[in-house]
Amino acid sequence: MAQKFKSPFKKSKDLLFDPALIPEELQHSLPPGYVVRPLCRTDNQVRSNTSFLKTLEVLTTVGEISEDAFRNRFQYLQDHNDEYFTIVIEDMNVPATLAGSATSSIPNLVTPGRGKIVAAGTIVVERKFIRGLGLVGHIEDIAVSGDQQGKKLGLRIIETLKAIGKTHGCYKVILDCSEKNVPFYEKCGFERKGVEMGWYV
Ligand code: ACO
Repeated sequence: MAQKFKSPFKKSKDLLFDPALIPEELQHSLPPGYVVRPLCRTDNQVRSNTSFLKTLEVLTTVGEISEDAFRNRFQYLQDHNDEYFTIVIEDMNVPATLAGSATSSIPNLVTPGRGKIVAAGTIVVERKFIRGLGLVGHIEDIAVSGDQQGKKLGLRIIETLKAIGKTHGCYKVILDCSEKNVPFYEKCGFERKGVEMGWYV
């Protein structure tokens, strides 16, 4: 049974997974007015400044994804939400009138989608036969908007995903990255292990 924490978000059918899986202390570690939460069914405002998909564009080409296609993919992930955990950091200071009190570390108003998504990441929990039916967490698609980099948001995304992996019983959490991101992941507590291989169809 995964550990649960007090959350500024209510459990909702529109959130990918139970927000109580995100440690409360991670909310407090963010800049004032920023919140970390599960991906929401309505985070697909395609190509708007607040969109989850827009945030992912710092990684690679996202492509044209219709609203229906987004919601279908969201539904698949939600139907497997003991396996797929995608989180976002939302800046609720934007627009300021909707942000509640920006002086506390967590805004009063915590309705998903009122602010601007500035960072995202995923952990996929793989179920193995080896290691006595062990679980391995795979961190994927870490993205911080260009104008928000350097504020420790990437670090907080990784800390949150590691905590989710740990609370689900993963015996290790692994990821692939480019050489230039090695120092960032070392700061996040990772070390070099093995070699990444790829085959593109
Ligand atoms: N080289 C050296 N140190 C770095 C780098 C880097 N490229 N990036 C961050 N750091 C350091 C920071 O200086 C900071 O160190 P400090 O604690 O001593 O001050 C620490 O790492 C944490 O940095 P953050 O501020 O949390 O980093 P940021 O929020 O900018 O996120 C990230 C880093 C995710 C790499 C971001 O720059 C980004 O989105 N880049 C483009 C997309 C990308 O490359 N994503 C990762 C793909 S790999 C994957 O998804 C598994």
